[in-house]
Amino acid sequence: MCGIVGYVGQKQAAPILLHGLGKLEYRGYDSAGLAVREGEEITVVKAKGRLAELSNKTADGQAVPGNCGIGHTRWATHGEPSEINAHPHVSDGNFVVGVHNGIIENYQELREKLLNHGYKFYSQTDTEVAVKLVDYYYKKYLGTPIDAINHAQVRIRGSYALALMFKDYPNEIYAARKDSPMIIGTTEDGSFLGSDVPAILNYTRNVYYVGDMEVARLTASDVTFFNLDGDQIEKEQKVIEWDAESAEKGGFEHFMMKEIHEQPKAVQDTLSAYLKDGHADLSAAELDTEILKNIERMYIVACGSAYHVGMVGKYVIESMADIPVEVDLASEFRYRDPKLVKNSIVIIISQSGETADSLAALRLAKKKGIPTLAIVNVVGSSIARDADHVMYTYAGPEISVATTKAYSAQLIAVDLIALAAAAAKEVISDEREAELVKALQALPEQIEKVIENKERLQWFTSKFANEKDAFFIGRGIDYAIGLEGSLKMKEISYIHSEAYAAGELKHGTISLIEEGTLVIGIMTQDALFEKTRSNMVEVKSRGAYLMALTENGHYSIEDTADFVVYIPKTEPYFAPSLAVIPLQLMGYYLSLARGLDVDKPRNLAKSVTVE
Ligand code: G6P
Repeated sequence: MCGIVGYVGQKQAAPILLHGLGKLEYRGYDSAGLAVREGEEITVVKAKGRLAELSNKTADGQAVPGNCGIGHTRWATHGEPSEINAHPHVSDGNFVVGVHNGIIENYQELREKLLNHGYKFYSQTDTEVAVKLVDYYYKKYLGTPIDAINHAQVRIRGSYALALMFKDYPNEIYAARKDSPMIIGTTEDGSFLGSDVPAILNYTRNVYYVGDMEVARLTASDVTFFNLDGDQIEKEQKVIEWDAESAEKGGFEHFMMKEIHEQPKAVQDTLSAYLKDGHADLSAAELDTEILKNIERMYIVACGSAYHVGMVGKYVIESMADIPVEVDLASEFRYRDPKLVKNSIVIIISQSGETADSLAALRLAKKKGIPTLAIVNVVGSSIARDADHVMYTYAGPEISVATTKAYSAQLIAVDLIALAAAAAKEVISDEREAELVKALQALPEQIEKVIENKERLQWFTSKFANEKDAFFIGRGIDYAIGLEGSLKMKEISYIHSEAYAAGELKHGTISLIEEGTLVIGIMTQDALFEKTRSNMVEVKSRGAYLMALTENGHYSIEDTADFVVYIPKTEPYFAPSLAVIPLQLMGYYLSLARGLDVDKPRNLAKSVTVE
């Protein structure tokens, strides 16, 4: 939610800031702004709407000279999207200028305090409060920017990543964070700051991760870090392995389509990281046979698509490894005082590793003394850093708001956990283990084949561009796949869709079926095929138009369904990795046919760092 950038160095700042914001637009895109300083002068430019508006207003940055600046792309939390609420915010006389990502929970209380000290507020944002609070402490104690920021940090409750410039300190940027992401990159001729890797990848791969409640001072030649006491601290520099190209569209019209095509690689890379000598090996996550053997229960906690992976994980892990699994939405888990049994593990799944509710769930589990495992895509993210065990997915940078390749890599991670646990507990034979490994290894090529058939789906999907509703039905793992298919459809095409456990239809939802309503039956599980077919017949007799998604060989379904999509045969456990592909493509093509912004659907953001 919201992207922030900063640059100080030998080059002109504004074009670099705009470039970085372009890479972060997936984090929010209702308004944008930048502040650049040249000598004493600080120029602030803001624009409502997409980043292109800000680029136009600043002649692609050329109209705002200077070598030091900060920028922001916004996803509104406090205050509507408008120019006045857009960042940067400034204190009077541009003494302190700042951009912020996150939510300051006690901003009303702090606002009151500052009003009592004569401060005026022009926007409805919590950010203006943060900037003026820093200004207040700076003037009150007549100390350094570090002191002022630290005083403010002690008073602020909530989450923030702040980038600030002080009028008295030319060519310096100050940054602080708590529970919102921020990285700092260095080169020989300048220092960079961004909410996420793609913002700075074009310039450097040498980065520092700012810790919670630490402060960084960036100058053209170096970066210095301080703790809450104001003492200088040493930090280790890390190298980002992602290459800049993987964060570009590479000839595709949209990131989403590019990322759909990257799924065979994401799956392959994740498999390669954890399959060793024909066994699932989680030693990279510090999970050995002894630990796995003693796990008696797993809790999977996540948000959005990652939660849907958890739903699949429940079916796979329970059945393959014989371990009971509970799945929770992170936003529910954190507030329901979950009763976690001993000898269990809490698994947090998150692409970004920054989702506020998932991070809070992780911390709750740790507080309760339960070991935690994070399945995370972004290296060095907050969830990765806080978890006891980390299993990285190797999807590379994902830019499109609607996740595809990260979801697919997460599916592989839960499959591997199931396999490793099943082997550790000796609930599967060596032969069975070998079969399952073989099936996993076949997935990248099989995914490739499913993607090859995309034109047929485009043709079918375009007929439903004006549809009002769609329903996804399935049982067991197929229901979990339906949840993801439905989310993909609604989030980017804005067509109302719902996923139902097929057996539940008759308890209410069936009354919504009218002549021509699109119902997508997911039928990858042999054992449940006939059951779901019966439910499809029930909706067909009430007028539904039926699409079936099933495995090669189930040709008899053509007697029931109006349109059938076949996927290659695999082990039932792994069918989600293949079945989700046509559903992602359907969402994509519907969005395209409706002329919508595929990569940046309205009201959404990729990284949800607020509750
Ligand atoms: C947002 C994204 C989803 C994602 C969810 C959880 O809603 O649009 O694609 O599944 O957040 O994000 P995470 O980074 O924790 O996986």
